[in-house]
Amino acid sequence: MKVLGIETSCDETAAAIVEDGKKLLSNVVNTQIDIHAAYGGVVPEVAARSHIEVINPVIHKALHDASCTWDDIDAVAVTYAPGLVGSLLVGTLAARTIAALAHKPLYAIHHVEAHVYANFITELGDSPSLEVFTSKLPSKQPQFPMLALIVSGGHSQLVLFRDHGQYELLGQTQDDAVGEAFDKVAKVLGLPYPGGPSISRAAEGGDAHKYTFPKARMSGKYDFSFSGLKTAVLRAVQHEVCVDFRFPSNELSERLSEAQKRDFAASFQRIAIETLVDTAERAFHDFNPASVVIAGGVAADRLLRSELSARLPIDIEYAPMSLCTDNGAMIATLGYYYAQKCPAVSPFDLEVMPSLSMTQTAWADSSN
Ligand code: KG4
Ligand code: ZN
Repeated sequence: MKVLGIETSCDETAAAIVEDGKKLLSNVVNTQIDIHAAYGGVVPEVAARSHIEVINPVIHKALHDASCTWDDIDAVAVTYAPGLVGSLLVGTLAARTIAALAHKPLYAIHHVEAHVYANFITELGDSPSLEVFTSKLPSKQPQFPMLALIVSGGHSQLVLFRDHGQYELLGQTQDDAVGEAFDKVAKVLGLPYPGGPSISRAAEGGDAHKYTFPKARMSGKYDFSFSGLKTAVLRAVQHEVCVDFRFPSNELSERLSEAQKRDFAASFQRIAIETLVDTAERAFHDFNPASVVIAGGVAADRLLRSELSARLPIDIEYAPMSLCTDNGAMIATLGYYYAQKCPAVSPFDLEVMPSLSMTQTAWADSSN
């Protein structure tokens, strides 16, 4: 079964074709990073307009790279939740149009669930455009029960999957998502957007023990909090450059040396990653999963990968970095598993759900 996956929930316009929920045939991602960098963050209206401009060429390239015609496609899967409403509308309208005109079953996919499914891609088609993935895919699909640490710009969650569509939310952030904390700390340090990769890069040359930041203690055993850490970095930077809270935070970085920026980035990253790994380790020992996966943009963080592998007594195979950030392949992959359990949705009725939680999807409901 070949599924075309379409993703436009934030600032990436993406389409991909995946066969049988595991074999990647094409993967096209048009990122808007350059457009939003000037504003220091995603501007929703600008994002939606940019999606409209490129959605058709992106979908056609996904078909072309996979050497597929419309006849070869068995189903269309599209992100309908959560995300920016204007962005979601562009992808869902494209998918609904294709499903209606080409008579394909349509599956409405939850973006956060889909991030986890990047880890189920284990085989490659023969398109030359996929060469970047050679020898980078996991050697086998994860086994259940599977512990998933989902860490993106909008979510930080620990989820225990007992089977496809059968999962329990163990814990989540009580305030900021970890990716959001990376992005906000990067802004304070004057590092370029997007903040996650910038912090990771800067941290490589820094002293991770130069500054001491607190780890939040949560009442929920598997919950997180990152807002206090973000504020602690801000206060420490103010202290370092001898100003108080009245000083404009967007001018703080001008007073920091490059070495200080690297040390702040490394010290922040250490505590953020330790917070995630401490919690994942607790859940690992309580639930004894057969596999552990990480998902979402922050899963591209090298320190998170190395710390998790060092601390958990299990062999973890990580998805390639470019399948951790937003892409259509994860949508197409999950589309296959939705198709095994859920009826297709009507292309004439599908509506976007900008703030739907992952535990409220039809896929999760149908089996719990
Ligand atoms: O999953 P994603 O691409 O979009 C959302 O669904 O939110 O995640 C984006 C987040 C951003 O906060 C970005 O700064 C962070 O992932 N990120 C990283 C890295 N690459 C992206 N954070 C840490 N290290 C990275 N290498
Ligand atoms: Zn995402």
